[in-house]
Amino acid sequence: METVLVVGATGNIGVSAAIAALGSNSNVLAIVRNQDSADKLFKHAGTSNGITVVEADVTSDTGVKVVVDQVRAGKLPAFQHVYACVGEEYVDVPRQEITTERLRRNMNMSFEANFSVYRNSIGYLLEQKDVDCTWTCCTGLQGELGLFALPAMTQGALFSMATAAARENEKTNVRFNEIEVDRDAKLHGVTKASDFANVYEMVLGGRNVRSSRVRVENDKEDLKKLRYQKKF
Ligand SMILES: NC(=O)c1ccc[n+]([C@@H]2O[C@H](COP(=O)([O-])OP(=O)(O)OC[C@H]3O[C@@H](n4cnc5c(N)ncnc54)[C@H](OP(=O)(O)O)[C@@H]3O)[C@@H](O)[C@H]2O)c1
Repeated sequence: METVLVVGATGNIGVSAAIAALGSNSNVLAIVRNQDSADKLFKHAGTSNGITVVEADVTSDTGVKVVVDQVRAGKLPAFQHVYACVGEEYVDVPRQEITTERLRRNMNMSFEANFSVYRNSIGYLLEQKDVDCTWTCCTGLQGELGLFALPAMTQGALFSMATAAARENEKTNVRFNEIEVDRDAKLHGVTKASDFANVYEMVLGGRNVRSSRVRVENDKEDLKKLRYQKKF
């Protein structure tokens, strides 16, 4: 049985990724902040069966590396897929009021944390040469719209990271993809975590989906049929 490493697993998107993994007959290895967060994941996923949690600070330089080292040492389950969705503040703060401290905090919990997941896990997937591995990250429409400056800027950085990683893995055993979600589609009740899980299930199972941006906007069809486009 395969395992998906989910980072940011206790949030809206992460819970749906965990549900998708379980629904794809895979196990989940979730990096969580603490036991309270783990309990949140179990509650929203509706089960703890098939989910292994490990505590680490993914915003630190070495948090993810320590986890992957434990996997390599056989102390945690081996994984073949990664889903990174550590979140930032989703708030509307005028640009001139964004302090350096707040900007750094958000870049750290969004861009740096998700990049750290990539840097510390991609080598492990590449080593599994003959296995169909995937690496997926979640970005958002704010990065294009720029209505909420703070999440827009962190998502913009993630877009570039995703494009670079998509190029880097175009011919490897790792299918790198970005899922761009319109947050309002969820907020307006169009999407539940369990509905949204279907998107990641299709990415996991879709061997042709590679180096692409998958779009999930205000259209229920996006949850049934993948709408994706090569990133370059
Ligand atoms: N939800 C949407 O509709 C949507 C739409 C577009 C894009 N996205 C993007 O997807 C990503 C996740 O969104 P979300 O809605 O799932 O966010 P969320 O519900 O706020 O979850 C964020 C996740 O990141 C973790 N996290 C946040 N700050 C952390 C920190 N300082 N240290 C360690 N862990 C931290 C949270 O852990 P705890 O549970 O411990 O707090 C949680 O697992 C974001 O980048 C967001 O922009 C989401």
